[in-house]
Amino acid sequence: MGELRMSELIDSFNRVHRDLRVSLTDRCSLRCNYCMPLDFDKWLPSDELLTTDELMTVIEVATEHGIDQVRLTGGEPLLRPDIVDIVARIKALPNPPELSITTNALRLAKLAAPLFDAGLSRVNVSLDTLDRERFTTMTHRDRIDDVFAGLRAARTAGLQPIKINSVLMQGINDDEAPALLKWAIEEGFALRFIEQMPLDAGGIWNRATMVTAQAIFESLSPAFTLSPVPARGSAPAEEFYVDGGPATVGIIASVTQPFCGSCDRVRLTSDGQLRSCLFSKDEMDLRKILRSETLSEFDIRAEISDRLQKTVLAKLSGHGINNPDFVQPKRPMSAIGG
Ligand code: 5AD
Ligand code: SF4
Repeated sequence: MGELRMSELIDSFNRVHRDLRVSLTDRCSLRCNYCMPLDFDKWLPSDELLTTDELMTVIEVATEHGIDQVRLTGGEPLLRPDIVDIVARIKALPNPPELSITTNALRLAKLAAPLFDAGLSRVNVSLDTLDRERFTTMTHRDRIDDVFAGLRAARTAGLQPIKINSVLMQGINDDEAPALLKWAIEEGFALRFIEQMPLDAGGIWNRATMVTAQAIFESLSPAFTLSPVPARGSAPAEEFYVDGGPATVGIIASVTQPFCGSCDRVRLTSDGQLRSCLFSKDEMDLRKILRSETLSEFDIRAEISDRLQKTVLAKLSGHGINNPDFVQPKRPMSAIGG
C-alpha cells in the first residue's frame, strides 16, 4: 500500500477513531463474578479464533486508517501462546501504534520482561481487592499472589505507567476503595475505578445495586481530598488529583455519565468480528473475508478497509444503557474484549 494515503475513521458524529481494542482470546484463567459465571461454557470454537497472521492483516489495515493505539484484551490476552510474538509483530508494522495490554496479571511475572523487550509500553491490570479471601471469592481462584508477583515484574521490567482497574460490588468490596487507593499510591500504580457495566455472561448486573461513580467518590472523600484534573481528549476516566497531586485516581462513570460523545474506539473480537461499541447489536464479519478462497491478498485488504469504514460510519451516538429499551449485548465482555 506504501504511498496510498487512506482516510481516517470518522463517524457520522465527527468522532475520529484512533483506538483499536483487539480481543486475543475469550478464555480466562479467572472467573470474576461480574464477568463470567463459574460454570460458563459458551467458549468460542478455537478454529473460529483469528490466527496471528489474520490479526496482523486487520491491525495493519487499521493503522493505515489512522489507528495509532492498539490495546490487546481478552478474556485473558496473556493466555495466547504467541503473545510476545504478537507484540513484536505489531511494533514492527510500518506505522507502529502505541501498544498496551489489559490483563489479570496471572502470567505477568513470567511475561513482563519479554513483553517489554518486544515493544510493549504499558499494562492495565484488573484487581478489585487486596484481600486474599475476597479475591478468591470474587474470582473463584486463589491466585492473588500471582497478581502481586506480576505487578512487581511489570515494574521491574519498566512497563510504565501501570494502571489498575477496579470494579466495586455492593456488599463484596465496596468498602475497599480507600485501601485500594492508598496501596496504589504507595506502589506508584495509577488506579481507576470502573462502574460495573451490563456485560456479564451470567446477567447478574443490576442497576439498583451497581456501585456508582458518585458513591465511589463519596467513599474516598473522608480519606482523601479529590480535585478534578481538567479533562483531556477522549480519556474516559474522570481523573482527580489526590490530596493536591501529583497522584491521581480515575473514577469511570461508564454507566451513570457515559463518555460516548468522545469515544474513539473500535473493537475486534477474537473470532474476527468488528464492533463499533461494547454494546453494539451488530457485528461486521472480517473472518469470512480473511478466509476467502477467491479474493486476492490485495482485495482482502481493500474489503477489510471498506468494512472498517462502514462499521465506524454506522456507529451510534451512545451505548444506550440508560434507555428504557436497552438490551444487554448477546456476547459477554470476555468474548467482545474489554
Ligand atoms: N463492568 C465493568 N468492567 C468490567 N470488566 C470486566 N467486566 C466488567 C463489567 N461488567 C473489567 C475488568 C477489566 C476490564 C477489561 O474490564 O475488570 O479490568
Ligand atoms: Fe477474566 Fe477479566 Fe473476566 Fe476476570 S474480568 S474473568 S480476569 S476476563
